[in-house]
Amino acid sequence: MTAMQPPNLVLVPETPERRLSDGRTTILHVVGARPNFVKMAPVIAALERRKDVIRQVIVHTGQHYDSRMSDEVLADLDFPAVDVFLGVGSGTHGVQTAKVLSEFEQVLIQVEPDVVVVAGDVNSTLACALAASKLGIAIVHLESGLRSFDWSMPEEVNRVLTDRLADVLLAHSPEAVDNLEAEGISRGRVYNVGNTMIDSLRRCEKRARDLKTWESVGMEEHGYVLVTLHRPSNVDDPTRLQQIVGGLVGLSDHAPVVFPVHPRTRARLVEDGGLARLEAAGVACIEPLAYLDFLSLQAGAGAIVTDSGGVQEEASALGVACYTFRPNTERPITLTHGTNMLLGEDPAEIAEVRLSPHPPTPCVIPLWDGRAGERVAEVLIANYVLSAAPVAVSV
Ligand code: UD1
Repeated sequence: MTAMQPPNLVLVPETPERRLSDGRTTILHVVGARPNFVKMAPVIAALERRKDVIRQVIVHTGQHYDSRMSDEVLADLDFPAVDVFLGVGSGTHGVQTAKVLSEFEQVLIQVEPDVVVVAGDVNSTLACALAASKLGIAIVHLESGLRSFDWSMPEEVNRVLTDRLADVLLAHSPEAVDNLEAEGISRGRVYNVGNTMIDSLRRCEKRARDLKTWESVGMEEHGYVLVTLHRPSNVDDPTRLQQIVGGLVGLSDHAPVVFPVHPRTRARLVEDGGLARLEAAGVACIEPLAYLDFLSLQAGAGAIVTDSGGVQEEASALGVACYTFRPNTERPITLTHGTNMLLGEDPAEIAEVRLSPHPPTPCVIPLWDGRAGERVAEVLIANYVLSAAPVAVSV
C-alpha cells in the first residue's frame, strides 16, 4: 500500500459559537471514505435546519485523500466545510484503524460532543466508534444492520463491531432490522429510516443526467457496461486479478466497457500488466470519477458489473441492471426489490454479462424515497434533544 505522510491534526480555529455552552446538543459527524460522504450529506443538511437545538461538527479522517476520491466528491455533494481533518491516509488495516482511533480520541477530548454519528462500514467507522465508546460518548450508526455473513470481508468485521458499540442504530431496510434483532440488540434502539444514499442520488440525479458523461468517454447512452472493482478479495491476489482481466476482455468482445479504476485496483493492474491487456482490448480504463460524473455513467449504462456495496443500491434506484461480482451481498433488498443479481465469484461469468435490452426502470424500495436524511434528523432530535419540538416527518 502507498505510504502516506499524515499531516498533523488540523483543527479549524475555534469559533465563539463552538466555545459557547449555549445548551444546544453537539453532534459530531465522522466521514472518512468516499461512500461516507454520500450517506452523510443528507443528514447534515437536514440537521442544519435545526440550528436552534443542534450544533454540528464534521470530522474527516482522511482515509480517502485523493482529490477524485474525496475533494471532488465532497464538492459535488455541496458538502459543508469540514471542521477537523485528520489526514490519516492509507496503511494496513491495523495501522489505519489505529491511527484514526488515537487521533480521533484527541478530537473527542477537545470538542466534547454529546453524540458521535458514524456511517457505513469502512475502517474509519469502526475506529471512531471505538474511540467514542471508550470515552462514554453516545454513538449513532447510520446504515446499521447490514450483514454479508462473510467474516472474511473487512467491512463485515467493521459492521458487526460498530453495531455492538452503537447506542442508536439506523437501518435502511427491514432485513437490517431483523439482523440486529437476531443478534440480541434491543428493538427500541433500532430505527428503519430508509437510505440516505438515495437522498443524495435523487437530489443530484438531474444534474448528473444532464452531464451525459458517457459522451465524454466516447460511449452511447445505454450502450456500454460500467465496471467497478476494488474489493481486496477480487484485486489483491494477482492470479485472481489476471482471471478477472480475462473476464473483462471477454466482456469487451460483446459490449463497450467503461472501467473507472480505483487506486487500489490500478496499482495491482499496473504491477502485473493487466492494465495494458485491458487497454489493448479496448476497455476504457479511466480515473476514478467525482460523484456527479459517476452517477451520470451509472444512469447511462446498459448494465453494471461491480463489487461495491453502494453501487448495488444506486443501480437499483436508477433501474439499471446490476451484476454483483461477489458470492453474497449484505444488501438483499436490492435482489428482491431492485435490479441487482449476484454473479458469483467465477471471473468467466463476467464475460457472459450483456447489455440490457430494456430501458432502465427505476425501482421503488420502501423508505428509499429521498427523505431518509429528515427521518435521521428526527430520530437524533428525539433521542438527544429532549426539549426540542418534534419535526415534521415521522419514522
Ligand atoms: C474503502 C473501504 C471499502 C469501501 C471503499 C470505497 C475499508 C476497509 N474499506 O476501501 O469498504 O467500499 O473504501 O472506495 O475501509 N488509495 C489512494 N487514494 C485514496 C484512497 C486510497 O490511492 O484516496 C489507495 C491506497 O493505495 C490504499 C488503497 O487505495 O492503500 C486502499 O484504500 P483503503 O482506504 O484502505 O480502502 P479502499 O479499498 O478504498
